[in-house]
Amino acid sequence: MSGGGTGREGAEAAAFIRARCDLPFAVGIVLGSGLGSLAGAVKDAVRIPYREIPGFPVSSVSGHAAEAVAGTLEGVPVIVFSGRVHFFESGDSAAMRVPLATLKALGADTLILTNAAGSLRAEVGPGEIMLITDHIAFSGRNPLIGEPTDARFVGLTEAYDAKLRAAFLAAAGAEGVKLASGVYMWFSGPAFETPAEIRMARILGADAVGMSTVPEVILARFFGLRVAAVSTITNLAAGMTGAELSHDETKELAPVGAAKLERVIRRFLRERAGGRA
Ligand code: HPA
Repeated sequence: MSGGGTGREGAEAAAFIRARCDLPFAVGIVLGSGLGSLAGAVKDAVRIPYREIPGFPVSSVSGHAAEAVAGTLEGVPVIVFSGRVHFFESGDSAAMRVPLATLKALGADTLILTNAAGSLRAEVGPGEIMLITDHIAFSGRNPLIGEPTDARFVGLTEAYDAKLRAAFLAAAGAEGVKLASGVYMWFSGPAFETPAEIRMARILGADAVGMSTVPEVILARFFGLRVAAVSTITNLAAGMTGAELSHDETKELAPVGAAKLERVIRRFLRERAGGRA
């Protein structure tokens, strides 16, 4: 499977989506665990389960809806991927390749990724949100392994688009929402990290840890999409409080940060619709 980063491999899925909702799509949004509420805000929404879209993966993680929602949000034609498929579900770090190729094939140029994450900074606690400025791919996997074309040599110096980051910080400021910035470190999961791994992550420069997003950033850059990514912090990382971590906690606390993140994303989209972002 390769279109050398052209998105051609998403053509069939793109045609399938266009047959249901034919808009000049500009922005794709991937919603992480417990962050599904934004999908409910899409106007004139056409909801399509992943299992119906050619080539789309199906997620098995509770708290993920696994549907694409097409429509407009704050005047911007969007596709919201409500639910992602993670590396840890099947060992395939390219699980989201077809959805991202589809976004490219649909003509979108911007991808907003969201996730739930554990914070390494005590002052950025549960319910806070963090703009990702850079990442560390600690799982050791790369979703472009096996890609046969030279397009696989993707530069990641500017993986998180500087203009989008500035626009998100401005949107947060305008909404009066505190938005931290930091480095996200990708662990494979599904087990949470150990306290020793978190001490290591801190030494290596991480501000937050999580089990997703990084492979999608790499694929998105491969497809030439501009990327912004925001974590909602659901917990302080392993060993920081003495409490055990759980997916129930992730699902319970993600909506707190999600409400703030939703305001920031909507403000960003409004600015974009007005030609200001
Ligand atoms: N570690 C990894 N993934 C996570 C965490 C965490 O502490 N919290 C939410 N997702």
